[in-house]
Amino acid sequence: MAGYVCFGALGFVLLFLLSTASGVEVKNLKNITDHLQNTYGVNGQYALGINVLDTYCTSDDQLDQNFLSQDEAGQVHDGMNSEERIYNGEELVGAKPKPFGDKGYNIHSEYLLLRGSDPSPMQNLLNKRKNGCTVFFTLNSPCVNTCSTPDGPHSIISALDMFKNHDGPKAFVFNRIWHYDRGSPLWENNILKIEERIPVYRCNNSGCVRCVTNKVVNTLCVGQKFFFPFSFFFEK
Ligand SMILES: *[C@@H]1O[C@H](CO)[C@@H](O)[C@H](O)[C@H]1NC(C)=O
Ligand SMILES: *[C@@H]1O[C@H](CO)[C@@H](O)[C@H](O)[C@H]1NC(C)=O
Repeated sequence: MAGYVCFGALGFVLLFLLSTASGVEVKNLKNITDHLQNTYGVNGQYALGINVLDTYCTSDDQLDQNFLSQDEAGQVHDGMNSEERIYNGEELVGAKPKPFGDKGYNIHSEYLLLRGSDPSPMQNLLNKRKNGCTVFFTLNSPCVNTCSTPDGPHSIISALDMFKNHDGPKAFVFNRIWHYDRGSPLWENNILKIEERIPVYRCNNSGCVRCVTNKVVNTLCVGQKFFFPFSFFFEK
């Protein structure tokens, strides 16, 4: 077990170095996603999109006090807790899942930002600065059932085309692999669909991993199924 853990950590570091060497578009992605989570994070699922001056992403300089300073955490949280569950700000948009109907369904936060209106909050944000640095962050990876399967009714995939036309540095980031999708070949395939539109990363406290290299999906982004006796809870 210990051996496996060590190997896992070493493999992670190596992959991290390799992906850095092959050119990460948003250079200081870990700092930016750390900042997003520390400043705007809430309990449970949420998604954020930013479009900032590209210099914040192309240099290793310290993020300065002006970084996202117009989008104050309290106001962002007020927006995400409002009935609409959306914050529309100067350089940042954010959403939490929005209860829908009386059967306990939610409209997913990724959907709200990318497709929730026409134009969507994220599209409006991109329009403000054509060559800005844009990062789309979601705490949990977009689920296979609803969001990340290309022809699903609530799919975000075709909406991600908006990033293709965006000139600045860009990244699609998730922190956790949605537990039902761990190890799923469908999720692996959906990662490729996202990558066709915007580079995909998994970022957490330990660092950022580029999910796709030469059309091969990094297993750290796909995860593994649980093999506990009650694993059936988590499969599918
Ligand atoms: C990133 O974070 C590290 C550790 O907190 C810090 O030393 C470094 O200056 C930061 N870089 C940027 C670009 O903010
Ligand atoms: C962070 O992500 C790496 C893969 O990128 C994963 O191996 C590790 O378990 C994650 N850590 C946490 C606390 O989720």
